[in-house]
Parts: sequence; structure tokens; C-alpha cells
Amino acid sequence: MTNKTMQAVQINRYGNADVLSLNTIAVPELDANQVLVKVKAAAVNPVDWKVREGYLEEMMGHELPLILGWDLAGEIAATGADVTAWSVGDAVYSRPDLARNGAYAEYIAIDANEIAAKPASLSWEESAAVPLTSLTAWQALHDAAQLKAGDKVLIHAGSGGVGVFAIQLAKAVGAYVLTTCSAKNIDFVKSLGADEVLDYREQDFSELRDIDVVFDTMGGEILSNSWQVLKKGGVLVSIVETPSEDIAKKHGVSSTFVFVQPNHDQLSDIAALIDDGKLTVHIDSTFALADVKQAHARSETGRARGKIILTLGE
Ligand SMILES: NC(=O)c1ccc[n+]([C@@H]2O[C@H](COP(=O)([O-])OP(=O)(O)OC[C@H]3O[C@@H](n4cnc5c(N)ncnc54)[C@H](OP(=O)(O)O)[C@@H]3O)[C@@H](O)[C@H]2O)c1
Repeated sequence: MTNKTMQAVQINRYGNADVLSLNTIAVPELDANQVLVKVKAAAVNPVDWKVREGYLEEMMGHELPLILGWDLAGEIAATGADVTAWSVGDAVYSRPDLARNGAYAEYIAIDANEIAAKPASLSWEESAAVPLTSLTAWQALHDAAQLKAGDKVLIHAGSGGVGVFAIQLAKAVGAYVLTTCSAKNIDFVKSLGADEVLDYREQDFSELRDIDVVFDTMGGEILSNSWQVLKKGGVLVSIVETPSEDIAKKHGVSSTFVFVQPNHDQLSDIAALIDDGKLTVHIDSTFALADVKQAHARSETGRARGKIILTLGE
């Protein structure tokens, strides 16, 4: 272990961004199956401020104080007694278990099976922009929807953290991609490979028909207006709320809710796609750890293009 204490952003109670507190605390102890990662960069995701507000209190049962942030890249600083696959100095990235302390900190203890070698071609900041949202898109499109070549997929919010990866992963399997965003992001999502773009302020996506897969990243009315666009036998995957099975049945489609899980193998496959130039990473903005409140404010606008990053230095 390189340090006995570290800087970390914790919450001691639920609430607005004022509950985010930069504290000096002990570097975490390692279990035998864990690695200690010196965090170089962490991403801010909507789940961070949802946890901060207490929206997931019942579901997660987190103990406070809690370190937020479940998306990171960094260097292994120590390994637990049972860890053989990793060594000090390895450059890794991870979407660690949401149930434990996160990565707004100089160090994080992570189960060894939740990390993968980071893409060699990316910086620390770019690498931290990948795990949570690319795994979400992967698990929604590949595992849940079984998206295949020739399918028509409607991806809501193609310019967001998840959407950027969803468009590219869908194109990589040979799907036809329709996506929604506002006017300022139309060229951006086209550059990611989207075949058709709907400006959600001007065009009504619910008039679309014969879609094989809807990927709902918004919930609410966007979810409830998505059923009718699907063809019989189609699939609706939401990552925001559990779709009604009754409504799915009425439309002759299936539906599922995906909550992203850590996955070493998928992160390794994603790193390979990135290093082969088949998947690109997009950063909306970068903040120092001490400016975490501004980073949360940016995420809470719902207008980020790609990912929001916290840098922790060398
Ligand atoms: N279940 C899970 O495992 C899981 C995993 C990851 C994320 N999520 C959830 O999924 C949601 C999306 O996450 P994210 O990281 O992609 O969010 P994000 O990066 O904050 O999304 C921002 C994007 O949403 C677009 N947007 C806003 N309103 C829109 C609308 N009405 N129609 C289409 N696009 C719109 C914005 O585009 P414009 O600026 O052009 O409006 C912006 O680019 C969040 O609620 C998050 O908590 C769930």
C-alpha cells in the first residue's frame, strides 16, 4: 500500500450536491480476492446523483458514509492474497459493484473479477469514460435484446453516455440504427453511424413502425409511447424503469429491464474493439475531483454529450 490516508468524496446523508464532501479518510483494506486500484480518472453517471439524492436507498441499502462513482480507470497498487491474475502496476478499468464504495477517491478496493486491462490506445480519462455505459449498452443490446444484423433498432437519447456506445455496438453487428436527440447533436450521432436521426423537439418517434428493438434510456412517456413502434415479436429493453409485461403482451412483444452488472469478459471484448478502432469514446467535460459538485450539476442537466470525467492526477 502506498498511502495510509487518501482524499475521497463521500456523502454522509442523502440530498443535493451540497452533501458531497471531500474528506481525508483511510485507504481501504483489501479482501483476499480484491485489488487496490490507484484511481487516475472516474466518470460521473446519472446513477451517482440518483444515489446521492437517496432515490436508490431502498433498493441498494447503502451504508453511509459512502464514496460515490462506479466507473474508473487506474493502476493496480496492491493485490489481495488470492489474486494471481493481476500485478502491481497493471493498467485497468472497471465498473465495480454498486453495492460498495465507489471511485471518487484516490484508491478503491475492487473484486479482481470486476476489472479488465484498460484499452491501450486510450488515456486514463478516455478509459474511465467506457466501462459503465458501454457495459450497459452491451448487456441491453446483446444479452437482453439479442440484436442481430438487419434488425431495426430505435435507440433513445443517442448522444448520451449510454447512447453513444449503443449506436456504435448496434452498427457493429450490422443493425439499422434510428436514434433521437436534439438538433445540436444530429451531426454527432450521424458520425457515430446512426442511419436515421429524429430531432425529438420536431419529430414524433411514436409514428415509426416495424422496429425490431427499442432501447429505452429515458423512461416515462418515452417508454409508454415506444410500444406501438415495435413489430410483432419485437423487444423493448429499458434501463430506466421496468416495462409492464401486460402492455408488452397486448402489443405482441417482449420486454425487459436491464441493470448493468460488472463483467470482466465483456470489458475485455470492449477494450479490443476500441484498440481495433471499431468503438470510439466521447468526453463531454472534465473536472478535478474537488469540483465534483459542478460535475454533478452538468450530469443533472440531462444534456451531456458523451461522458463527464473527474481527473485524479498522476
Ligand atoms: N439500468 C442501468 O443499468 C443503467 C445504466 C446506465 C444508465 N442508466 C440510466 O439511463 C439513463 C441515461 O443514461 P446516460 O448516461 O446515457 O445519460 P446522459 O448521458 O445524462 O444523457 C444525456 C443525453 O440525453 C439526451 N436527451 C435528453 N432528453 C432527451 C429526449 N427527450 N429524447 C432524446 N434524447 C434526450 C441529451 O441529448 P440532447 O442534449 O440532444 O437533448 C443528452 O445527450 C439515466 O437515467 C441513467 O441513470 C441505467
